[in-house]
Amino acid sequence: MNNFLKMAVFGLVVIGVYTLLAVVYVPSIPTESHEEDSAARPPASEDELVLLGEKVFGGKGACALCHNPTGGRAPLLDDIAVRAAERIKDRRYKGGAANAEEYIYESMVRPSAFVVAGYGVAGTNDTASPMPDVSSGAIGLGDVEIKAVTAFLQKRAGVPVTVIAPGKEAASK
Ligand code: HEC
Repeated sequence: MNNFLKMAVFGLVVIGVYTLLAVVYVPSIPTESHEEDSAARPPASEDELVLLGEKVFGGKGACALCHNPTGGRAPLLDDIAVRAAERIKDRRYKGGAANAEEYIYESMVRPSAFVVAGYGVAGTNDTASPMPDVSSGAIGLGDVEIKAVTAFLQKRAGVPVTVIAPGKEAASK
């Protein structure tokens, strides 16, 4: 064999070996869809739902980045499940919620349905909210996660949780 052929064969063998190693050893990266809920199994009880909500509130949902006592960029949500009733009755309210559960859910997906006085985007006279729709974009919460956060905020306000755990719903069907 001439030298060129030797080198060509050697090159192919090296490529072959590395291809094999790559196939065998490089773990596949699991693809993560933003539309998916972080709960592998939908919460089946109120406790599980509230727990997931707490996790999402401080984590993926990024809520605590704005809604916290030290940052001051957003109103505190400790008693939002109680205050929701006033929001719905406010003449500036543009949403379609009939109760606190619906108001909290709506606040996450349509923040400008009601803008808390003093917190609107500058120059909009409190008609546009600076809060993002958390069901899309970078945060991208799923329906179960939004329901879970709603349940968590009801629990935190000390009122009965009216959100039904999606896993419980499915089981009773
Ligand atoms: C980038 C900052 C930001 C993030 C992130 C954010 N919010 Fe907000 N949120 C605001 C601001 C500012 C307001 C007040 C303006 C308004 O009423 O829309 C608000 C208003 C609200 C209200 C209505 C409060 C009221 O008194 O009526 C609720 C409920 C709420 N946010 C829940 C959430 C939840 C739950 C999350 C996480 C999933 C979240 N927010 C993430 C900034 C944020």
